[in-house]
Amino acid sequence: MQLLHLDSSLLGTHSVSRNLSSDIVARLVKLQPELRVIYRDLADDPALHLSGAHLAAWQGIDNKDKVLIDDLFKGTAYMDELLGADIVVIGAPMYNLSIPTPLKAWIDRIAVAGKTFHYTATGPEGLLKNKRAFIASARGGVYSAGSPAAALEHHESYLIGLLSFLGITDTTVVRAEGVAFSPEAKEEAVTQARRAIAAITA
Ligand SMILES: Cc1cc2nc3c(=O)[nH]c(=O)nc-3n(C[C@H](O)[C@H](O)[C@H](O)COP(=O)(O)O)c2cc1C
Repeated sequence: MQLLHLDSSLLGTHSVSRNLSSDIVARLVKLQPELRVIYRDLADDPALHLSGAHLAAWQGIDNKDKVLIDDLFKGTAYMDELLGADIVVIGAPMYNLSIPTPLKAWIDRIAVAGKTFHYTATGPEGLLKNKRAFIASARGGVYSAGSPAAALEHHESYLIGLLSFLGITDTTVVRAEGVAFSPEAKEEAVTQARRAIAAITA
């Protein structure tokens, strides 16, 4: 059994999502000690933005640019790690109402027709079966259903939708939101998230 752990916050040890994603992984490893964990710090070592040169290389057009070649290898590693994972844990801060760009760059490498989804006569079908995902969500404001800013929520809903598009429908969100309101609000949000992590079952 393999677990892929991704982080994408720019805030290092001060990051809420990093702390929560690491707690989720620790909880899952406690429940399933045989889990092999692969870790990617997407903020520390991001992939390049997807470009025309990437698409051309995927079509078999030769390119000698070492930066591009290294980045193509990184994208292949992203794909192999995801395909080999039984569980994916994603540390996902909300930045500008959505996800951080290094996480989007990861998605641009793993959402590939013919590998993680395909089109059928009746529409798209996800090819990632029997995988479970966890999203460690952190956001400064409050966007949960029913809140005044709910319509601006393009963060968890985007990730859940994307995972589901790829076939991963068993996704659990662990959320700390409103962390920018006050130190007390942040502490309470993190405490609640930690409670949710403690309740995760195998
Ligand atoms: C560049 C940047 C953009 C942000 N944009 C938003 C935002 O649109 N909405 C929000 O509620 N909080 C926003 N925040 C606050 C973060 O969501 C909050 O600090 C959260 O804890 C980030 O997760 P992290 O601590 O793991 O980095 C932003 C923070 C940064 C650094």
